[in-house]
Amino acid sequence: MTQRVALAFSGGLDTTVCVPLLEEEYGYDEVIGVTVDVGQPKAEFEEAEETAAALDLEHYVVDATEEFAQLCLDSVRANADYQGYPLGTSLARPVIAQAILEVALEHDCTGIAHGCTGKGNDQLRFEAVWRSSDLEVIAPVRELGLTREWEMEYAEKKSLPVQGGNEGVWSIDTNIWSRSIEGGHLEDPSYVPPEDIYEWTTTPTGESETIELEFENGYPVALNGEAYGPVELIETLNELAGSYGVGRTDMMEDRMLGLKVRENYEHPAATTLLNAHEGLEQLVLTKEERDFKTLVDNEWSQKGYEGLVDAPLVSALEGFIEETQTKVTGTVTIKLQGGQARVVGRDSEYAVYSESAASFNTETVDGIKQEDATGVAKYHGFQSRLANKVTAAVTEAANKSKESEESEESEEEDTLKADGGTFE
Ligand code: ARG
Repeated sequence: MTQRVALAFSGGLDTTVCVPLLEEEYGYDEVIGVTVDVGQPKAEFEEAEETAAALDLEHYVVDATEEFAQLCLDSVRANADYQGYPLGTSLARPVIAQAILEVALEHDCTGIAHGCTGKGNDQLRFEAVWRSSDLEVIAPVRELGLTREWEMEYAEKKSLPVQGGNEGVWSIDTNIWSRSIEGGHLEDPSYVPPEDIYEWTTTPTGESETIELEFENGYPVALNGEAYGPVELIETLNELAGSYGVGRTDMMEDRMLGLKVRENYEHPAATTLLNAHEGLEQLVLTKEERDFKTLVDNEWSQKGYEGLVDAPLVSALEGFIEETQTKVTGTVTIKLQGGQARVVGRDSEYAVYSESAASFNTETVDGIKQEDATGVAKYHGFQSRLANKVTAAVTEAANKSKESEESEESEEEDTLKADGGTFE
């Protein structure tokens, strides 16, 4: 029987060298390449198609953009970010992995492979999905300890089609939620990136624009009064907010294996939607709900970063999220300016807000008068005041007894001296 392996294929150097290696080193008879569309630029698909053709590789492209966009909007309901990064790459990986697995199974593959190194997060995210199947999981770059130099030489020796493109300058990963730029000089945390690493965001100016986003059950559904589907909305906001320089992140990121890496990201739509969503939650959720939800959101984000959005914990967290989001319906006004997407207005029929209760101009609310707060004010901080008093008293008592001990000792000393004794 022909042994067939499906390879996550991008057309870049790593996945290109994997094609012959899967035959030579792993004994497969046939390799099929799978590229999954999660909103990468068209040029990346062309590169993948061209390289596949030149390699004579059976190549499939699966469109998972809609599904991925939906997951991105789920992440908005969880206010998801990892150390300040809104998770583009991490959320895309399980979607890509699942799509490749389906192609592999359809084509009776017995193996499934990726071109990730042994240092990053992506190997873990891919394999977490693939290892649920019986397929042999193969990671040639990691398992054969390949370096870029070795890959270049090997490609040349085998006359493999290696495209110039971005290779060698920065390592870029793009999907509709974020664009990540790493590698090269950027690996030096003190290196200030040149403006030209950015493609989605323009250098912020003083210009501004105010937009209105409408949410229903925690999902953004309309922009400036017009209904938008997930993909369209994200694409539109990437352009719009990106033109005001919104959504740049330059950070040190703690990878799953513990390595710190310098990362640069662009994510204008994500930043805008996350800010707007949180702005609306501030209005409609109680303080207790908000406080507890930060813990839930944090766990969701952690799993999202790990590529484990199918963990039972995540569905349990989503049970809580779902319950809270029934009230996250309303409109948020956002001002795009100077690299920021700032909430400047919010409105919802679920607002846990009473203007008269908060206002300085009304005397009585729900039968409660201003002076009723006097009792609360008397009690506020009571325990701390008491604790501080007790501590002060104990300290004073201890100081006093130390003083009296010292004076007793010096009295004894004086007596000794008077007796002619020495005291060295
Ligand atoms: N460090 C990020 C993550 O693990 C993104 C890595 C993207 N890869 C790249 N070659 N730029 O989610």
